[in-house]
Amino acid sequence: MIKKTLFSVRNSTGHVLDNLGKMLSIAWAAGKKTTILYYAVSGITAFFPIIMSFTYKLLVDHLIESQGITPTVPLVLVAILGAREIVSITDGFLSGTLRGTYLDILFRSRLQNELNFRFYKKISNLDIAHLEDPEKQDLITKAADTFTWRPPDFLRRFSYTFEDFVGYVSSFLILIPYGIFIPFVVSIIAIPRFLLRTKYGKLQWSIYGSGAPEVKKLWYFRWLLSNKIAVKEARIFQSQNELLKRFKKIQNYLYNLNKKPLDSFLKVAVLPQFLESLVIFAFAYMRLPIVISGKMSVGDFTFFISILGQAARGAAGLVSGFGLMYEHNLYVDYYLDVLKLPRLIKEPSKPVLIKDVSIPHKIEFRDVSFSYPRSKKMVLKNVNFIINPGENFAIVGPNGAGKTTVVKLLCRFYDTTSGEILIDGVNINKIDIKSWYRCLGTLFQEFVHYNLTVKDNITLGNPGAKDKKLMIGAAQKSGATEFINKLPDKYDQMLGRHFEKGEALSQGQWQKLAIARTFYEGAPILILDEPTSAIDAESEYEIFKNLNKHYGDKTLFLISHRFSTVRNADKIVVLDKGRIIESGSHQELLENKDLYARMFKKQAEGYK
Ligand SMILES: Nc1ncnc2c1ncn2[C@@H]1O[C@H](COP(=O)(O)OP(=O)(O)OP(=O)(O)O)[C@@H](O)[C@H]1O
Ligand SMILES: [Mg+2]
Repeated sequence: MIKKTLFSVRNSTGHVLDNLGKMLSIAWAAGKKTTILYYAVSGITAFFPIIMSFTYKLLVDHLIESQGITPTVPLVLVAILGAREIVSITDGFLSGTLRGTYLDILFRSRLQNELNFRFYKKISNLDIAHLEDPEKQDLITKAADTFTWRPPDFLRRFSYTFEDFVGYVSSFLILIPYGIFIPFVVSIIAIPRFLLRTKYGKLQWSIYGSGAPEVKKLWYFRWLLSNKIAVKEARIFQSQNELLKRFKKIQNYLYNLNKKPLDSFLKVAVLPQFLESLVIFAFAYMRLPIVISGKMSVGDFTFFISILGQAARGAAGLVSGFGLMYEHNLYVDYYLDVLKLPRLIKEPSKPVLIKDVSIPHKIEFRDVSFSYPRSKKMVLKNVNFIINPGENFAIVGPNGAGKTTVVKLLCRFYDTTSGEILIDGVNINKIDIKSWYRCLGTLFQEFVHYNLTVKDNITLGNPGAKDKKLMIGAAQKSGATEFINKLPDKYDQMLGRHFEKGEALSQGQWQKLAIARTFYEGAPILILDEPTSAIDAESEYEIFKNLNKHYGDKTLFLISHRFSTVRNADKIVVLDKGRIIESGSHQELLENKDLYARMFKKQAEGYK
């Protein structure tokens, strides 16, 4: 039992120190001067209580010495009293004003900036597979929820623990002449406090960690109760009370889960304190006869009991501080774990550069099968097709057939499970991915509504270009100019409801801007996944007319449920349950009288 506990203490101590090193290096990168000053002040202020005890000893001894001897106040007493005040002022300034307020705020905000920057840099460059993995999503959410205060508090707590450490070591050394066993005993009695603190910290953390399903649900309900779309639905269905009831139930559950270990902590929390006081009392009591006999001065005795108290408090502070650090550290882990998420898509060691990124390239899917990570279901099964440069290619198929998945593979968000994707005959895994992205213009089913200006919404398609004429041309081709010109600030108009003066757009208008963005990028291979699902029939007709006109020599890869948009494609592939079941031109497929013909007929009937 003891061996197990010691082992766990050693492990957790090692782990805290390990993370401390990593966090300190982040703090160091955030600001060298602030970091040094922050901890230097902690080290210095540790000596003030000792200095105060010592001056107190001098004061008492000199007072006793002078009692009844001189009628005037000796200068030395005045000097001691004055010195005590100077120490007290310095201490107040250093630990209160300088560290407690000024440095604390500076250190924290510098650190938070650095932590935020590193976190979002990591997330924005993360493999899509991580972002689509619920477990990783969970980790990211937990880290995002806690990293702005847990890691800074971890380092802040360290500054106080460091102060306790310096105070404890100094008192330890001072106590040695009084009997070597004294400082050791004082140190040992701090262990129960440490064990208690560690256990409690672990309990709290494990509730957050292991209660994850409930905590996750709580977060989800918060979202449901505040998200614009969800609130609208709840209003109409009058479901908010039901949702609130469930929200409260989860809250109560988590509260009780948290309370139980706290209750048991309360029951035993007083024990370590009792033990510490008992030991200090015993040591002080043992000295009394020597003081009374005059072998030890009264000042010395006050100094001794004061240092004894400081050593015990230092040791206790050290272990409680360390316990708190341990608790914060469990959350620091989340943060560091996110930073450690590995690259899944491996860059080739000798990447093949696509030399000409202004022309379309031949794309071939050769016997491609694919299942998402940690899923057994084959989403694509032996898919074969070729898209020649400049071809107008389309995929159709029912929901869940795997159409978007084909695009994700083509964008190398995932690697194929088996089979190959070839670009001009070269396996996509060997290609320099940045040069491939320069060839691709992709508009996903779910795209971004940038709550920025109209201009940003278009030009973020190619941030380097900064071409006003091109921007207006792109807006014209996507049919967006019509509403842009009616906006008060035209291209400088802020959009969305995130910021002040943002104009709200309709779904279709957002989609037109997204299409303008891809037009602006002007990539030689354009992939559009349901690009016009929210766009009215007339605008859609115009967009496709423009696409055919301006994309004559480029490759167009289109996914759509609307046959009006795919019928002009040179080649149409019909995907069903991950398999290609037919392919050909619109006419050929109609003559085939299979799934395509049936789906086409059903849609056409709807328009009769
Ligand atoms: N990130 C993911 N992790 C695991 N499975 C996924 C993931 N994304 C999609 N799938 C599964 O892959 C299958 C194909 O999805 P995909 O999005 O490619 O369909 P789709 O043909 O584009 O459908 P839709 O017409 O509705 O857009 C679905 O059954 C879905 O459950
Ligand atoms: Mg899709």
